This record gives sequence, C-alpha cells and structure tokens, in this order.
Amino acid sequence: MPPPVRRKTIVLVLVLGAVLALASVAHAGNGGFAPLTPHSPNARRINDSYVWISIFAGGIFVLVEGTLLWFVVRYRRRGRPRTVEGPQIHGATRLELIWTGIPVLILAAIASFVFYKLPGIQDVPAAKAEGGPLRIQVNAHQFYWQFTYPDGSISIDELHAPVNRTVRVDITSQDVDHSWWVPELGGKFDAIPGHRTHTWFKADQLGTYRGRCGEFCGVFHAEMKAVVDVQTRAEYTAWLSSAASDLGRSEWQGACAKCHGPQGEGGYGPKISNNALLTQAQGLEQLIRNGRNKMPPVARGWSDEQVRSLVAYLKQKVYKGTSSGG
Ligand code: CUA
Repeated sequence: MPPPVRRKTIVLVLVLGAVLALASVAHAGNGGFAPLTPHSPNARRINDSYVWISIFAGGIFVLVEGTLLWFVVRYRRRGRPRTVEGPQIHGATRLELIWTGIPVLILAAIASFVFYKLPGIQDVPAAKAEGGPLRIQVNAHQFYWQFTYPDGSISIDELHAPVNRTVRVDITSQDVDHSWWVPELGGKFDAIPGHRTHTWFKADQLGTYRGRCGEFCGVFHAEMKAVVDVQTRAEYTAWLSSAASDLGRSEWQGACAKCHGPQGEGGYGPKISNNALLTQAQGLEQLIRNGRNKMPPVARGWSDEQVRSLVAYLKQKVYKGTSSGG
C-alpha cells in the first residue's frame, strides 16, 4: 500500500468527521433539520421514535457512504488497462449471513420500539381524575379552522386550551380534505368531510403553539394556520366567558380578511369595505352561507348565532360607507 492513499483516506475521514460535527451543531440550534421540541406526551413519543430511527439511519448512512468512498480510493484503477479483470469470487456464507442477519435485527429493533410507543401516541388517556378528557371539535373549512368547546363556545383559528389537561380533539371537514397539524402537540390528522378522526394532546407548558393545514386544499391553503393558546385554567375559563363577544372578530379574521384584506380593502378577493351588502343582513347571510363564483361558502354549517356575530361585526367594524370616489 503506497503511503499517498493512506493520507487521502485520512483526509476523507477528517472531512466526513467535519460534516458530522457541523450537522450536530445545526441540530443543536435545530436549524430546521430536527423536529420541534415536543410539548405533549404523544408528541414526545413520536419524537422518541424519530430519534431512534435516525440513529440507525445515520449509522447506516455513514457506513455505506464511508465504505463507498474508501473503495473508490482504495480500488481505483492506478493505470491498469481497462480490460483487466479482478479475481472472481463466489459465495461467502459467513459474510452473507452477517449482512442478512444485522438488517433483520435492526428492523426488529425499530419495529419493537415503535410498537411499544404506539399506544401512548394513539390512545387518548382516560384522565379519570379530571372527569375525562376535555373535548373540542375541530372543523376545517376553506380556509380556516373552527373550534367548538364543550359549552358551545366557538373560536376561529385560535384554539384555547388549559395547560396540563388532556384534550381530545375530534376532527372533521366542512368541504374538502384538510389536515390538522400542530407539530409540538402531536401528529398530523386528516380532516375529511363526512368523517371524524381524533387525536389528543396534553400541553406541558403555557404558550402558543403553531399549527397549519398539512394538506393542499386550495388557493388559501398557506393561510390556513392555527394557533393553540395554552393558558392557565383561570385564563381559559375567563376566555370562555368572553368568547361569544369576540366571535365576530374571530370570524372576520379567519374567514374573510385573508381574502378581502385586514380592513376589507381588498386583496385576492374584492374590496368590500364600501359594499352596501355589508349592511344587508339577509343578502349577506345568503352570500356567506352559499358562496358565489370564487368565494367559498365560508359560513356553511354555521349556527344563526355565528352568522349574526359576523354580520354585526361587518356592519360595525368593516363597513366604511359607500363612497362614489371609492
Ligand atoms: Cu386546508 Cu390546506
């Protein structure tokens, strides 16, 4: 073995080491490579499975790529004629058993770990001490999330929940397929019209957790963001009692402003702040319940109370009066 090859091998190993070191730095700062820090037991178990699988995947990647690079250098042509054949070898029983046995063991280790974690990810805890989980309905619409609480309160795009409380969310869709996804609080769940799926979370920390629709559902898919506001129990209760008075604003921001602009000044959808229809309760109800042309029926499935809240809000806060100039 001539010394230059060894030197190059050393360089390769060092480069590989540097790459791995950089990757771990990026991982520490989470530069977008690793999942967000989980804040719910189910999300934590999903994360554990991710880490466990990554250990094997990372090891295999280094082994395969390292061997590849090593062979490329070690067995390069060195000026031999292209027609020269290497020694022909047939069968290596021991080696073949090893490279079959090890992957089988790896897959068994991965599968066992994931199946061990699965019930803790999927099954909603009974939460008997608290009288069962808090149940919140999630109803996806083009292009917002509607949340209904046990007392009938409703919010749009902002889910309020008490900290350290098991929350079961039942998910469905009013129109097309969407997907409920709050990475820090658990996995991704399809929202399918006419069908109900469920998941749960138990947030371990106060704060705001970001979610988004995980399924392409139309032009405003990217605006279908949700926020889970995890509050103290007192804050949550206080919020519930104020939810009804805030419903109109919540509906405006979630269902209307994304298209028509924050002040109704127009955006993807037309300017509406000077449209007299905003003051005509019946015509307006028709429009939002049934949609028209490109406008989706944003209020499909709404209660009369919900429609009244939005109509009142539009009249008071959005309508600026018809003007010949505007
Ligand atoms: Cu809803 Cu994408």
